[in-house]
Amino acid sequence: MDSYKKLLLANKAWVQDKLNIRPDYFSVSAQDQKPEFLWIGCSDSRVPAEDITGTEPGELFVHRNIANLVVHTDFNMLSVLQYAVEALRVQHIIVCGHYNCGGVRNAITHQDLGLLNKWLRHIKDIYRMNARELETISDPQTRYDRLVELNVSEQIQNLAETSIVQRAWKSEQRPYLHGWVYDLRSGYIKEIARLDPGAKIDDIYRFDL
Ligand code: CO
Repeated sequence: MDSYKKLLLANKAWVQDKLNIRPDYFSVSAQDQKPEFLWIGCSDSRVPAEDITGTEPGELFVHRNIANLVVHTDFNMLSVLQYAVEALRVQHIIVCGHYNCGGVRNAITHQDLGLLNKWLRHIKDIYRMNARELETISDPQTRYDRLVELNVSEQIQNLAETSIVQRAWKSEQRPYLHGWVYDLRSGYIKEIARLDPGAKIDDIYRFDL
């Protein structure tokens, strides 16, 4: 029942560690942030953004949701995106999925999960758009892994389809969009897809800016 207390104790130890290395650590980091990266990852507890990328506080601006989705009507994600691109002026946006993602796994079942149906519906759409490729894969694990990869590719497309990214591409030739997948089984990140500033997107999504 008191397991939460170990987090507070660990916090005290962490403060001491930081101060031992740099006595001004907190006074400096409290002043400002200038992260170079926006990280859009899964909420999964096994994919801690800073740990797996060896980054420190201040380096990643982070948004996480179930199955690392970029949904055009999600004001939470859009607010994070706008702030990261327009105020923090990040150079890179990384959408990092992971194999064995529960969100992706549930999306390819027929289970009724209530509200989650609406969120996971976006992954069902990706399945349908890629059904021809996915259904040639006979091994279920391999097919599931491939859908995780297709998901991050689709999410960076979704980023490129926003006016926020298109405006920054036009005026400042940034940010670069990266689709990555973290492998829980090995610890390694695999680069799946990248869209550089000005990359061609389907014309229907292009805004006159
Ligand atoms: Co996940």
